[in-house]
Amino acid sequence: MCGIVGIVGRTPVAPLIVDALKRLEYRGYDSAGVATIEKGRLDRRRAEGKLVNLERRIGEEPLDGLIGIGHTRWATHGVPNETNAHPHFSKDVAIVHNGIIENFAELRAGLLADGYEFTSQTDTEVVAHMVSREMDRGADPEQAAFRTLQQLEGAFALAIMFRGDDDLIIGARNGPPLAVGHGDGEMFLGSDAIALAPFTNAITYLEDGDWAVVRRNELKIHDMTGAEVQRKRQQSIGTSFLVDKGNYRHFMEKEIYEQPEVISHTLAHYLDFTTGAAKQIEMPFDFAKIDRLAISACGTAYLAGLVGKYWFERLARLPVDIDIASEFRYREMPLSKESAALFISQSGETADTLASLRYCKQEGLPIASIVNVRESTIARESNGVFPTLAGPEIGVASTKAFTCQLSVLASLAVKAAADRGKVTPQEQAGLIRQLSEAPKYANQVLKLSDQIEKLARELAHVKHMLYLGRDTNFPLAMEGALKLKEISYIHAEGYAAGELKHGPIALIDETMPVVVIAPHDRIFEKTVSNMQEVAARGGKIILITDRKGAEQATVQTLETIVVPDVPEIITPIVYALPVQMLAYYTAVFMGTDVDQPRNLAKSVTVE
Ligand code: F6R
Repeated sequence: MCGIVGIVGRTPVAPLIVDALKRLEYRGYDSAGVATIEKGRLDRRRAEGKLVNLERRIGEEPLDGLIGIGHTRWATHGVPNETNAHPHFSKDVAIVHNGIIENFAELRAGLLADGYEFTSQTDTEVVAHMVSREMDRGADPEQAAFRTLQQLEGAFALAIMFRGDDDLIIGARNGPPLAVGHGDGEMFLGSDAIALAPFTNAITYLEDGDWAVVRRNELKIHDMTGAEVQRKRQQSIGTSFLVDKGNYRHFMEKEIYEQPEVISHTLAHYLDFTTGAAKQIEMPFDFAKIDRLAISACGTAYLAGLVGKYWFERLARLPVDIDIASEFRYREMPLSKESAALFISQSGETADTLASLRYCKQEGLPIASIVNVRESTIARESNGVFPTLAGPEIGVASTKAFTCQLSVLASLAVKAAADRGKVTPQEQAGLIRQLSEAPKYANQVLKLSDQIEKLARELAHVKHMLYLGRDTNFPLAMEGALKLKEISYIHAEGYAAGELKHGPIALIDETMPVVVIAPHDRIFEKTVSNMQEVAARGGKIILITDRKGAEQATVQTLETIVVPDVPEIITPIVYALPVQMLAYYTAVFMGTDVDQPRNLAKSVTVE
């Protein structure tokens, strides 16, 4: 993960680099650092922890210089302290790096044998020394960088600066994204276009295997054979403002509250509420002609895909294989030529999802993706893109991107049902009418915040929680548990309610709250039986249901959260909100860092 920035500028670059890093902090916040060349001297400031610590450090001891590189870190090799913080130096070379150098141990051994000394435990310092060693052997900076890149294995993006040349940064991409921003007599490098948005919206994206020689008035891009290549310069649609929290305490809270609006925008992109038909969108495959759909994604996006499976299979009678991308990519699954592949990712940069996409592409499948970041690698490598219109999601725990992913999946399932002749035009119009009500109900659920907040105060003391649900509420139970554990650090598990008696019931005692997500549907009674099994063992039930469910649940609950009666197809979208709110308020009472929980990063560009 990590975010990297480089500027060959006209004014002192350190404040600009810090500004760009703020927009990249979602990629990691274990440490941060900036290096510049000032009067022929390499200098740097680094600090453990978040960017504010680096800002304070630079405030105490400013950095001058018209060229510089910066980094915000998500630790892979070496603990997150100042010594391991980037930029790393080796003689005249300074370097920042995102990703993992897989053969670093072997390379490090060679460098040690050649007398190079290491001050950090990082794989990055290996690259700095390798470039230095090439220069010691007589190479110029470009040759040294190229020869080094040829020896590196793994997924990485790099920015390299050289003490003897204050008009040169070399950027390289092998996996994680890297964009070059064109200014007027200045040039920028960044992990994404949003980082560079206040400086320029003229962007060139490096492709895998590219390395770029970036100077104030010149950009030259080469591929891994060393040949010069042309890459398109394009207008970025990244917004330049640093999205702020407004009156909310956290981005996560703001993003939860934005959901009625963004769900509405997303649904309207795919569905025509006036005619009651799915809109004609550009499709990389024909739902009527495929016999299977292979979905893969990670984390919350995977759970959205799992809900999608229920929809595609039930409404469109289209069989779905759904996989966690990190498993799929190595599973060597036989893929039918009549199937299509769908990838789901908020960031569009998740390494495992991207690798799965490339596997399917190689197998000749048409590739579609549901992404939030339109300019991301996954979007660019897909044959067709279904955007979520969630807007930038800053909180590390995904909320609005999830419900927008669900909105896209529901819309596509309706379209697939229509294209495959599994619904009549009237039935299609009925489903679309029901979907159009999701924003209204989501808004009503937000009004339950006082009740959920009060409940969360009690939960802030528990050690473990269980979430149960059936049908589309099963993935939602897993999503509830994921959300709770990642931001409150309370251990939680999500289970299919019917699985309770096959193991997890052993955990139940009076200290174990069990969240049951159960609208009054055709299998409600089955879930009531599971609640009885929990109650009989002293477990404390938190029931999330509708009015009818609350009336008919013949079981004592610690709390019953009553959401509006909603049509079945929008249940997962609407019920996602109380689940997110419960995790959010619990984390607030626990006093954790809600927007940037420990050990996590927003964009997971390493395996
Ligand atoms: C959890 C969360 C993660 C992401 C996962 C995939 O709240 O946000 O589980 O869903 O890392 O990320 P994307 O969607 O960017 O591929």
